Amino acid sequence: MSKVIAIDGPSGAGKSSVSRIVGGRLGYLHVDSGALYRIMTWQALARGVDTDSPDAVAAFAPQVEIECRPEAGAIRFYVGGELPGDRIRTPEINAHASHVASVKAVRDRITSLLQGLVRFGDLVVEGRDITTAVFPDSPARFYLTASAEARARRRRKEEVEKGIADQSEDAVKASLLARDAIDSTRKYAPLRKADGVYEIDSSDMTLDEVVEAVLAKVHEAFG
Ligand code: DC
Repeated sequence: MSKVIAIDGPSGAGKSSVSRIVGGRLGYLHVDSGALYRIMTWQALARGVDTDSPDAVAAFAPQVEIECRPEAGAIRFYVGGELPGDRIRTPEINAHASHVASVKAVRDRITSLLQGLVRFGDLVVEGRDITTAVFPDSPARFYLTASAEARARRRRKEEVEKGIADQSEDAVKASLLARDAIDSTRKYAPLRKADGVYEIDSSDMTLDEVVEAVLAKVHEAFG
């Protein structure tokens, strides 16, 4: 049976960096579940689907073909034979992704796709509902958080370094908080800290410290 490390938390808490490093250290495949919600959003916008209409999004959801391939320590998601890359990381996708992720048909489709990834081996999966809905029985479940200021600072730095956008820190913070609000109050599988999940507040921690804290708990959980 494949082992799964599940990591949830709000935007910009450092889930991706931590998951990637932990996966690399343990030989587990990294799975960025947010990329799947972003892909659905990207495709919906590209086809002119009204992302504010849950019915329109639900009708569109089954049409997006996503191919999953284990490559370079991660599960990579291909659409039409191509990797989406930073096309799914724009401010426009940020603004619409929470709406698309609120639609039950989208969540059901992505949840079963994620659960099926265990066929590829051990996984470290990050997202918003991994510890509560996708892999709630994993013995290694984490809630990674940080202050809104720390999260906005990190996310802005990432966007500038990648040449995706150059918004003010306040604008990045407002966008993060708007998404958090929708993600944690939606009807289906909202972001929440589940019972029995190990919480790490990374506001004043280095990336190395967070990685070590996760690894220590994983060793405890899996022996
Ligand atoms: O982690 P991210 O910013 O790439 O996520 C993009 C959007 O998808 C965000 O609105 C949260 C949502 N999401 C979700 O609802 N459930 C997940 N497991 C992962 C992401």
